[in-house]
Amino acid sequence: MIRRGDYGYDAPYFPLIFGFLSVGAGLAAAICWWQGAIRTAVQMTLYFFFFFANTSSFLYATRRGKFFEWDRILDHLHLRGDEGVLDMGCGRGAVLTAVALRLTTGRVTGVDIWSTKDQSGNARDVTLRNASLEGVGDRVQIDTGDMRALPYPDATFDLVVSSLAIHNIRSNADRKRAIVEGFRVLKPGGRIVIADIRATAVYEKTLRALGASNVERRRLGWRFWWGNPIAATTLLTASKTPA
Ligand SMILES: C[S@@+](CC[C@H](N)C(=O)[O-])C[C@H]1O[C@@H](n2cnc3c(N)ncnc32)[C@H](O)[C@@H]1O
Repeated sequence: MIRRGDYGYDAPYFPLIFGFLSVGAGLAAAICWWQGAIRTAVQMTLYFFFFFANTSSFLYATRRGKFFEWDRILDHLHLRGDEGVLDMGCGRGAVLTAVALRLTTGRVTGVDIWSTKDQSGNARDVTLRNASLEGVGDRVQIDTGDMRALPYPDATFDLVVSSLAIHNIRSNADRKRAIVEGFRVLKPGGRIVIADIRATAVYEKTLRALGASNVERRRLGWRFWWGNPIAATTLLTASKTPA
């Protein structure tokens, strides 16, 4: 799906640091080869390739891979088009607008605290502009709020999504609070879909404890690696059992 908005870079310090390390190792390798220090030159060359591969993979994931994988995830949900959807930690709207493009009479709400450490240029106005550029401004509502205390009544949404956001919360206890909140605002029969790194086992345990059904967790492919396979994105899906 062709996107018209600009969705920035996730965790922008990461590719910067790895990019600098890659350039540094490359320069060191060149100097060592030139001076005939073969052993160190080989080591530095290996470091160069390691950092370069990590930087490239990260940049690909944040600018392309994320969009590709979320298109696949959303297609598999077979949305009717009239759903009410919440995106927890929507940032500049990469997933929010992808959802909105699949809605007809439905609406998608994005909630965020706008951390520019977590995503470059993160701001409510930027997200609204992206929604407008994608032609879905009329299907989108953007709120400022913390996902640990969502400003919505119980059972408001048919679908809750979250992309690469919950791990940004510091402690597992607070991440659990976000999951509990996401589940609280879900209607009975609704679905929750989370793509994230690090603590997805904690999210899964929390959802099971809340009585969620159809809980599934699986690692996503290379397009969604944040530098290397150890930092792969995991997809977690579950449903709220109808009363
Ligand atoms: C890496 S960005 C991902 C943004 C977007 N979901 C995407 O995939 O492009 C993480 C987002 O989570 C937001 N965030 C972090 N902690 C949050 C919290 N406690 N409540 C709401 N949003 C939060 C950040 O502001 C940031 O926009």
